[in-house]
Amino acid sequence: MKDGTVIKCENITEEIIQKYQQEGYRLVFQENVMEHDLTAIPRMETSLPLALRSWSKSSDADFYKVYKASFKDRPGFPGWSMREWTAWLSSSPTFLPERTYIAEVDNEAVGFIAADSDSEDTRGYIIQVGVIPEWRHKGIAALLICRCLEALHQDGKKAVVLHVNQNNPGAIRLFEQLGFKTVRVRGAFEAPSSQGM
Ligand SMILES: CC(C)(COP(=O)(O)OP(=O)(O)OC[C@H]1O[C@@H](n2cnc3c(N)ncnc32)[C@H](O)[C@@H]1OP(=O)(O)O)[C@@H](O)C(=O)NCCC(=O)NCCS
Repeated sequence: MKDGTVIKCENITEEIIQKYQQEGYRLVFQENVMEHDLTAIPRMETSLPLALRSWSKSSDADFYKVYKASFKDRPGFPGWSMREWTAWLSSSPTFLPERTYIAEVDNEAVGFIAADSDSEDTRGYIIQVGVIPEWRHKGIAALLICRCLEALHQDGKKAVVLHVNQNNPGAIRLFEQLGFKTVRVRGAFEAPSSQGM
């Protein structure tokens, strides 16, 4: 076993954690795979003059700005350039530009949501959702998520999935409030260091 080898696990259970830990592996990452079955999408209202705009080539810079402001304080923020983030987000053939929205208040970008699909086109996937710190706790993320769920439902999707890190309990609570359920936990273990051996 080599130092620093990372083993990814798509369905982590207590049994698996114990087994790996007995062998000296360290659990280094855990995220919930959450699913919404689209049977009861909450109706979200807002008194804000909020306008949603879909992704287009000309809106790259606005999306990047709001992504960066929303995610810069998250642990592990990769610090990607606009070109890197845009390529990561939108170069997949299953990316859904029409279902990827930026939220604006009086022409100020305050939040965004990005969506993708599985290759069979039966399930939607929320890649990221973010709201800039000054505009949080006003229901903007909830509204963006529900609009996205409604649109994906209209597109014929049977469910919508997302991944959320377990170090993000506020976001997990928000997703639960909107009807998402954790269906499994995925993560990674790191091989023990051989220091001192
Ligand atoms: C997670 C995140 C998107 C939430 O954005 P938000 O716009 O603040 O979310 P909402 O306002 O819709 O909901 C958040 C809270 O506000 C509450 N809320 C909703 N409407 C509200 C309103 N009108 N007034 C006050 N509070 C309200 C919700 O009940 C929720 O409360 P809780 O945290 O106690 O459960 C934001 O914190 C963020 O961008 N974080 C960094 C990026 C990230 O972690 N993204 C998620 C993983 S992809």
